[in-house]
Amino acid sequence: MMNYQKPMFTSPIFEGKTFVVTGGGTGLGKSMAKYLLELGANVVICSRKLEVLEKTASEFQAISKNILPLACDVRNYAEIEGIIAQTVAHFGDLNGWINNAAGNFVSPTERLSNRAFDAVVDIVLKGTYNASLALGKRWIELKQQGVMLNIVTTYAYTGSGYVVPSAAAKAGVLTLTRSLAAEWAKYGIRSNAIAPGPFPTDATLARLFPKEIAQVVDPMQRVPLKRFGDHQELANLAAYLLSDFSAYINGEVITIDGGEWHYNAGMFSGFDKIPTSFWDAFAEKVKGKSE
Ligand code: HXC
Ligand code: NAP
Repeated sequence: MMNYQKPMFTSPIFEGKTFVVTGGGTGLGKSMAKYLLELGANVVICSRKLEVLEKTASEFQAISKNILPLACDVRNYAEIEGIIAQTVAHFGDLNGWINNAAGNFVSPTERLSNRAFDAVVDIVLKGTYNASLALGKRWIELKQQGVMLNIVTTYAYTGSGYVVPSAAAKAGVLTLTRSLAAEWAKYGIRSNAIAPGPFPTDATLARLFPKEIAQVVDPMQRVPLKRFGDHQELANLAAYLLSDFSAYINGEVITIDGGEWHYNAGMFSGFDKIPTSFWDAFAEKVKGKSE
């Protein structure tokens, strides 16, 4: 096992803390929820499909009994309030929240219906501001500290064709993160974001890079480290950002993409393909000229 596949914290730093992970039944949300449980936290996982959440929760029983699966559509503010109320009723408190739920698909934008645009933006942006607003109201009223962590993507900074609703919504989440970090720090509420590059999940591989597309655009070749992210390295970063070890980090977005977006933005990154023999000959030529 490589070091980056190992847990960064090994003691139960989250004992007595309660976190909610939206979209925690699958993919990256599941991996983050698992690690929080391993670190002693009480964890609520919520999304639309209760049967998926229950299956995940039963897998987690071997780690900890402090896992609660709850059905919720993050687009609905009342359902978010319901999750908060049920979390507090079950675990007695709520200390942090990961806005991880998302919807996305690849398509030329002009082929999308307005309802398709709504579907993605409502899950990603509305789902995140719904949770932020409900949590802020609660923590401020109770004079309680809290921490929010939003999962965005690197194209939240750059924009990207073919995933335009997702890019627009994630950019909104990024600005929400920074804005609330500035406004609510005085209440002891921190807001940060993680911008992952490609991590293998059923959603990314099957939905965004189906076989026919991956043959034309190989996502791994876009990463200068020539590998995908490991779920544990993302979980390590999430745990750090939820913990008091990051108490002075507020309004930050941390990219974890193996250098993917810088590599593809850099005009000369493609020079990787130029063989050493060329550079040897080129150096000789330049030397000859300067002499
Ligand atoms: C075009 C589509 C579509 C597709 C649905 N629609 N899928 N349009 N291409 N592939 C259209 C439908 O036709 C409909 O419009 C409208 O969208 C709403 O569809 P519903 O199925 O009713 O929506 P809903 O049930 O809300 O489902 C939301 C969803 C779905 C986003 C469409 O795919 C979903 O639940 N996804 C969750 C999982 C997911 O997407 N994970 C990806 C996260 S990965 P009409 O006009 O017909 O009514 C990620 C990684 C980014 O974000 C970075 C990678 C490196
Ligand atoms: P995933 O497994 O599809 O996760 C998305 C989750 O969101 C699912 O569990 C889904 O569960 C939930 N969800 C969708 N709509 C919802 C709604 N309306 N209400 C509540 N929950 C809802 O995908 P993933 O790859 O792990 O992605 C997780 C996060 O990482 C997302 O924010 C994604 O944008 C981000 N990300 C991923 C990658 C990557 O390479 N994997 C890269 C960059 C960013 P239900 O269907 O049960 O509702």
